Amino acid sequence: MTSALFSPIRLADLELANRIVVSPMCQYSANDGCASDWHLTHLGMLANSGAALVVVEATHVERHGRITHGCLGLYSDACEAALARVMAHCRTIGTTRFGIQLAHSGRKGSARRPWEGGQALPDGEDPWPTIAPSAIPFGPDWHTPQAISREDMTRVREDFVAATRRALRIGFDAIELHMAHGYLLHSFMSPISNTRNDEYGGPREARLRFPLEVANAVRAVMPRGTPLGARITGSDWMDGGLDPDDAVAIAKALKDAGFDFVCLSSGGVSAAARNPTTPAYNAPLAEKVKREAGIAARAVGLIASPQQAEALVADGKADMIALARAILDDPHWGWHAALALGAEVTRPPQYARVAPKMWPAARYRM
Ligand SMILES: Cc1cc2nc3c(=O)[nH]c(=O)nc-3n(C[C@H](O)[C@H](O)[C@H](O)COP(=O)(O)O)c2cc1C
Repeated sequence: MTSALFSPIRLADLELANRIVVSPMCQYSANDGCASDWHLTHLGMLANSGAALVVVEATHVERHGRITHGCLGLYSDACEAALARVMAHCRTIGTTRFGIQLAHSGRKGSARRPWEGGQALPDGEDPWPTIAPSAIPFGPDWHTPQAISREDMTRVREDFVAATRRALRIGFDAIELHMAHGYLLHSFMSPISNTRNDEYGGPREARLRFPLEVANAVRAVMPRGTPLGARITGSDWMDGGLDPDDAVAIAKALKDAGFDFVCLSSGGVSAAARNPTTPAYNAPLAEKVKREAGIAARAVGLIASPQQAEALVADGKADMIALARAILDDPHWGWHAALALGAEVTRPPQYARVAPKMWPAARYRM
């Protein structure tokens, strides 16, 4: 049996052994943006998950661009040194390649960690002023952001560039910009959060202008052989919000800017938005973007079984599959998927005796 999920894929000069990607997942465990021992353990664990690529969590390009006080950043020498230590460890022990997601929280920043409630930081918990295209809060009881000035836009763009240079110095194999989930770059694209009446608001082309300025500035400082991608939104799931045709237009614009892949996610632009809860709910969005924009597309969202992931790639609906919760639940998901699909996966030599033939494949037909 030949597995499509376990076939290699090339993104720019990066050869990935299979189509499994660990989705970026905030850990809220950094100290002033600096990766901690939690990251050493968490990313070290995922370094041997069988996924060809692990994308490090949303890593914020400025201190006030974090979501919470625990979010990872890449805005200081201390942040760079801490993440370099973690990645050096992961490269020594792991079998995977590593990408990083660069982000700015925009109007969803200055919030508590999810396990502290996730709401806007109250006075007394060191809240900070947030920025967004327009002074519209994410939802009731959220901070009202400042409508971003031209000076701040230039600064944020250069913060993305500086963080990219730091990520390249650390040796990441791929970079991905966070343009989804209602954070700053997505909030520019969506008419729900962007009501500006200058050249950065109004028609779609104008709403994409700032995210594309950031995209072009980042691409310009990256070697062409290092893949650059973006997580984009396939739908805001709200009347008057971004829809799948917008996603195609965004993906085409990114492709023209020299991007190598997109990941189709959705939702998160407003507290009122509700995502579907059906299996692989973003996969039709990935399929449409892959077909109509002609760029490598990753699907994510409620994909949990090897058979489901295999079918999405084999049927040409997605080029790569990203897993978040399923691979936290089973950090050897890739090994078990290989077993279920009759494929090979690289294991570290210390674990080589976990030979595939030990287990009947039926055990993993989930
Ligand atoms: C703990 C956790 C943290 C997350 N952090 C991020 C993040 O940093 N960046 C991002 O784009 N998505 C983030 N997400 C969303 C996931 O990457 C993924 O898109 C979502 O969970 C749906 O995939 P799943 O059904 O496989 O979990 C996070 C999800 C979880 C569960």
